[in-house]
Amino acid sequence: MNHKDPRKKFFLCYFESTRKCNLNCRYCMAKEPRSKPKDHTTELSTEEIKRLVVDEIRKYCSHGAIAFSGGEHLLRPDALEILEYTAKAGLWSFINTNGTLLTSDLLKRVKTATGGKVIFVFSLNSILPTIQKWSRDDSLWTVIKAARLCLKAGVNFFFITTISKSNLKSFSTTVNFLKLKKIPMLRSPFVTRGMGNCHQELALTPEDMKNIIHPVLRNYALSYVSYTPFFAGPEFLEDKWKEMNVEIDQLGCQAARGFVGISAEGHVAPCVHLLDNNLKCGNVRDIALTAILRDNEIIKAVRSRETLKGKCGRCRYKQTCGGCRALAYYKTGDYMAEDPTCFFEPVDETTRSEHEELQNKNTTRFLEFIKTREPWKSLF
Ligand SMILES: C[S@@+](CC[C@H](N)C(=O)[O-])C[C@H]1O[C@@H](n2cnc3c(N)ncnc32)[C@H](O)[C@@H]1O
Ligand code: SF4
Ligand code: SF4
Repeated sequence: MNHKDPRKKFFLCYFESTRKCNLNCRYCMAKEPRSKPKDHTTELSTEEIKRLVVDEIRKYCSHGAIAFSGGEHLLRPDALEILEYTAKAGLWSFINTNGTLLTSDLLKRVKTATGGKVIFVFSLNSILPTIQKWSRDDSLWTVIKAARLCLKAGVNFFFITTISKSNLKSFSTTVNFLKLKKIPMLRSPFVTRGMGNCHQELALTPEDMKNIIHPVLRNYALSYVSYTPFFAGPEFLEDKWKEMNVEIDQLGCQAARGFVGISAEGHVAPCVHLLDNNLKCGNVRDIALTAILRDNEIIKAVRSRETLKGKCGRCRYKQTCGGCRALAYYKTGDYMAEDPTCFFEPVDETTRSEHEELQNKNTTRFLEFIKTREPWKSLF
């Protein structure tokens, strides 16, 4: 597989544009514990965002996208100006939001600013109100109402579900609801970043993955396939990319491949979950983002996967899965260590997972979906 020119592939920059937020969710990774308040004056300014983030992403991948997250991007006074600038640069915007500020008027303004090149991403950890409320400092109905507003206005949206011990019990009910409505979902693993560090007890185990999470994810083809462990056969994928001419850079862990994370203060990490740590990938104020993506040793190691350790290093699915680099880091301090939530036990590269056939089949369905449906068709 050729990973020498990642710019040809779909690319998403996950940018936490501010740490300000109007909610205070229990284990929010973007928030520091109260004892360490953040200084918002160090956040990137409007002009810095345009020049150091948007322009650089356009250079790196002219058909890419920026996911504006936070904190709450919509709290920035320049939120619409930045979205408009991104669209004019030819890029799509994702808006990862808690949905509290969304009104039909704001939706209209966002739609106009982006020329429709926008996708809202709402956080839905559980379709059961009490479980949602435990991890989100808000009622379930906020994101449901926000999704309805999008439906009415013809604006794209999907849900992101952060999986931790707190919502395992309702995970299958939640995904079944989304499946019924044919709404795509993305899974995000709980990590001990920021306030997450005060909730180590919520971290997932290989048993959770094997018995609850993986069976649910592998049976829903529209759960975006960027999860680990992911057992699509390498030969199968190689053929599929060519056959379907898909501009996506592998499946499984997308860190430093399909995406990169940038903090409100401009620090870069291979994945948003790895921000605010000791990984020295550089700051966009000091080094151009395109140079960081091209030259940084951490980014290159995570992208190539050649030096993965433990079972990820000897696994048949090293290139189609790679193991979650963030979970590896938080468990061991080593971002190249094996994924601590994986239940697969490869002896060497010849060991096959019993799930390979099903994951190949579902990957085909997922690829057919993104190749034929807007907005995904335009993105990939
Ligand atoms: C930090 S929030 C920012 C965007 C917006 N305010 C929201 O809540 O959707 C982005 C996503 O990160 C998820 N998240 C928060 N804390 C996390 C943690 N400790 N581990 C993994 N994901 C986390 C949230 O559930 C949300 O889907
Ligand atoms: S998860 Fe989102 S809504 Fe909740 S506190 Fe963090 S940034 Fe705010
Ligand atoms: S061992 Fe690592 S690369 Fe292999 S399936 Fe598990 S997480 Fe993925």
